Amino acid sequence: YKYFISTKVVMLGESSVGKSSLVQQFMLNRFMPGFQEPTVSPHFVKKIQTIYKLGQQKVQFNIWDTAGQEKYRCLTTMYFRDANVAIIVYDVTNKQSLECVDYWVDEVNRSNANDYFIVLVGNKCDLRKFRQVTMEEGQAKAKQIGAQIYYECSASNEKSVQNLFQEIGIYLYKL
Ligand code: GTP
Ligand code: MG
Repeated sequence: YKYFISTKVVMLGESSVGKSSLVQQFMLNRFMPGFQEPTVSPHFVKKIQTIYKLGQQKVQFNIWDTAGQEKYRCLTTMYFRDANVAIIVYDVTNKQSLECVDYWVDEVNRSNANDYFIVLVGNKCDLRKFRQVTMEEGQAKAKQIGAQIYYECSASNEKSVQNLFQEIGIYLYKL
């Protein structure tokens, strides 16, 4: 009977889709629009989270937040290597960021020796008026890349981000 799982998570995706903002919301319940600087080098945080639907079971999320900007990417691949979960983020207000998802899938497939699963996340759902990618398009992409979980959220919405990690936790206990 498992009650504790430690898992390595990498945050991947184009620059400015909101990877660091999602991590900050998960860790600190905080969103500061406009204050998030582009990530330059991979950044590690960890959090032990109770998975509420399961009762007392907990997951230790060991999260590597990576840099999306092309000039910093060469540093990123070594962090894929033994990841258990790849969270690939796109921005629902930026169609091009969805097209970039394939690049990250290829990279993680190439560099990761572990068994891992993919979580495709459409972020910035709060910006309804600027949406360029529908939920159906996101779901189709998730299917195409073989993502195990598809999720839409906003780094500005605490509940949506906490729920994302709850879903991942539930999935980990099902494996
Ligand atoms: P890199 O580190 O360069 O790869 O970018 P990133 O993916 O970490 O993006 P970051 O978290 O730095 O966010 C980029 C910008 O988008 C910042 O100005 C954030 O405040 C904003 N942002 C992130 N998530 C959201 C969201 O859900 N809604 C809105 N409205 N803005 C967001
Ligand atoms: Mg960042």
